[in-house]
Amino acid sequence: MLVLGLQGSPRRNGNTRFLLSAFLEAAERRGARTRLLSVPEADIRPCRELGVCEKRGTCPIRDDLAREGYGLIREAEVVVLASPVFFYGMTAQIKALVDRCQVFWARKYRLRLADPRRATRRGFVLSVGATRGKNLFEGLLLSARYFLDAIDAPLAGSLLYRGIEGPGDLARHPAVRGEVEAAVEELLAPLRRRRRLLFLARQDDGIGPMAAALAGHRAAAAWEVHSAGLEPAANLRPGVAEAMAEQGIDIGFQRPRVLAEALAEGPPDVVVALDAAAAATRLEGARHESWEVPAVEAEPPGRLRDALGRRVEDFLGREAGG
Ligand SMILES: Cc1cc2nc3c(=O)[nH]c(=O)nc-3n(C[C@H](O)[C@H](O)[C@H](O)COP(=O)(O)O)c2cc1C
Repeated sequence: MLVLGLQGSPRRNGNTRFLLSAFLEAAERRGARTRLLSVPEADIRPCRELGVCEKRGTCPIRDDLAREGYGLIREAEVVVLASPVFFYGMTAQIKALVDRCQVFWARKYRLRLADPRRATRRGFVLSVGATRGKNLFEGLLLSARYFLDAIDAPLAGSLLYRGIEGPGDLARHPAVRGEVEAAVEELLAPLRRRRRLLFLARQDDGIGPMAAALAGHRAAAAWEVHSAGLEPAANLRPGVAEAMAEQGIDIGFQRPRVLAEALAEGPPDVVVALDAAAAATRLEGARHESWEVPAVEAEPPGRLRDALGRRVEDFLGREAGG
């Protein structure tokens, strides 16, 4: 389970980074994989309103968001937006990232595509400000709420600290560590109760991602689903994302992953081998199944998707019944 922290302060060791780091460390102690993306240090440019995302669901601006950020947001089970208050809003740097996520808004509301993790992904806001007014966080929270809706990570909670100004102020706050621990515990508890399911194939460029998306789409509340490859390809095969989009399921930002990376999510409870190479791989502590599905080269992606869909339904039915 990936917990992604979006760090919005231009201060390298400011209050926001302190708060977000404490949050991610608490998540790691509960078995999560974490990633802190420090937005001011990344090359993330503002939206130019080119209108491409409205039609195609993609953004032509080639920067760190396109290279990695969009994929990380889609991979994450929890997205934490962390920013100090600057003039009653978030910082310009993180607002640029937020605006560029219009791509996800367009995929969801214009193209009507469903992210397979949408049922379980959660959003969280961390913020600090120097003053103590009642409305200090109102502007930031309003933007954050709509951003988190667009990325299918509805706002599950927030930790907001007033009267925090100098770089070390929050570290001296007496209650912050305990409040972070309690918030992370509550946020992750339902996600940690799920079993882990791994679809394994040689390249992770077709049948694995399709099976994982179908299973996640149907049963994300019960299963944390991943796919991985023994020799992963660079990209999904042509036609694979399109075949899933025909069913309204969005895997447009997914990339093939190497097995070691998937195992960093935690040990799988069930491994489903989708080809002969995968069937010969044993992972300690996991139950193994092999599914006979046509080779990825043998059938058009739409036919593979339908064959996998039947196997996934059968699997989920068996597991729910047993
Ligand atoms: C450009 C700018 C605008 C700010 N605007 C506000 C504000 O509207 N309200 C407030 O309480 N603090 C404001 N602050 C103070 C910061 O929110 C505060 O110093 C915070 O602790 C900085 O967090 P950091 O250490 O994570 O960067 C502003 C600071 C800067 C540099």
